[in-house]
Amino acid sequence: MESNKRDLLAIEDLSLQEIEAIFSLANQMEESLSPYSSLCSNRIMASLFFEPSTRTRLSFETAMHRLGGRVISVSEADTSSLAKGESLADTARVIGSYVDIIVIRHPWEGSARAFAEYTPVPVINGGDGGHQHPTQTLCDLYTIKKEKGHIKGLRVALCGDLRNGRTVHSLVYGLAMFGAEIICAPGADLDMPPHLLTKLKTEYGYEPVQLNRSDIKFLKEGLDLLYMSPSKPVQLSFPEESFVGFSAKGKELVRNIDILYVTRVQKERFVPGTEKPSSYPVIDKKTLAEAKFKETIVMHPLPRVDELAPEVDTDPRGIYFKQAARGVPIRMAITSFLLGAKKLPVEEGPDQRKNKEIYKSRHGLACANKNCASFKERQFLAPKFEILSQEPLKLRCVYCEYEIEARCVGNLRSKRCYPPENITKIKKEHLVIFESIKQAEELSFKSVNAPVSLP
Ligand code: NCD
Repeated sequence: MESNKRDLLAIEDLSLQEIEAIFSLANQMEESLSPYSSLCSNRIMASLFFEPSTRTRLSFETAMHRLGGRVISVSEADTSSLAKGESLADTARVIGSYVDIIVIRHPWEGSARAFAEYTPVPVINGGDGGHQHPTQTLCDLYTIKKEKGHIKGLRVALCGDLRNGRTVHSLVYGLAMFGAEIICAPGADLDMPPHLLTKLKTEYGYEPVQLNRSDIKFLKEGLDLLYMSPSKPVQLSFPEESFVGFSAKGKELVRNIDILYVTRVQKERFVPGTEKPSSYPVIDKKTLAEAKFKETIVMHPLPRVDELAPEVDTDPRGIYFKQAARGVPIRMAITSFLLGAKKLPVEEGPDQRKNKEIYKSRHGLACANKNCASFKERQFLAPKFEILSQEPLKLRCVYCEYEIEARCVGNLRSKRCYPPENITKIKKEHLVIFESIKQAEELSFKSVNAPVSLP
């Protein structure tokens, strides 16, 4: 659906300047609610939660009420027609004709983007499977900024289920936009997905750096650490001293951690039959007794299970309840911005995707992620990919961001298919991309090994 509406589906849908402006608006809203109490009067929000939620749903609904707006909601997956087999596309069309803005949480990766494509009103992603949770990231970055005064150059350790946790998946990009250093401390076999590390490297210049275990030994043996820092200091204007281990204040030598971001095991995303992780980082008072944690703040998107001991609640470094409370002003700010009720004093952020070369797949190529909305709703959504490179031919799913390598390209008119390096020789409107030659042949394309001669 072509329109000028703004959605918030991934953290990169906002520019750095817009994020800063949203923080400053949220700060004003946090200080005094009354000037904003009728900012969104006569506006209606649909809050659609097809997965459990406490904080995200209730803080969005509170935010809309605080802005003088009204809310209609679906809070259980089996109470809407999606449970009867209705498509996301049809649900989106209908609800978009009732309300002014939609917040959606759904178990499929890319579901919020799919929804946004079929509705004329702004859509906010309240968590799409294991993909992203951008408003949690706004709340996290806002908290970091409030507590530490800045984000650039801070050392942030992300602990726990980095494979499945959508909060950390959007947070890494948010941290990279601000130029923080990232330390990944996953539970056993719960590392960051490879496509995410590739994107951090290619688009943000974050290189993995081997970390000396003795530098950070707060985790149990058997856990792998990954330390990433920006390799393009000029582009990110990263302070030089951080590379040699000085704090942003430039005083003490730091092998310290500024933020511990703790997450729970996302067991609802495990393939059935998967064992629970053999080791998992647990943060308690004993962990925090090490000198390097003297000024660390401990964050958690909540809910916690047993990875963060309740004894940390009374420690001034544990700020996760404050972090959760900030969800309301942050969501007030983003809702009023997307509704156009509040303009931000910055230039509109560029739509990241507008300049990218997108391939829409009507035949052949499908997303490799079986939990992607484009895979689940094939009859409504043609898979779409961003072309990342031509040799090898690499593509990224527009919905869930999984990467795929294609090994064959074809010409729809001649029904012939060729090795992938011939991609530029086939007219765009005739181009078909296949996973493999086998797939092309199954679709009645004749394989030709010679270079393409047709324009
Ligand atoms: C998170 C989520 O739903 O992804 N919760 C939240 O929105 N604050 C984290 C989690 O469930 O572990």
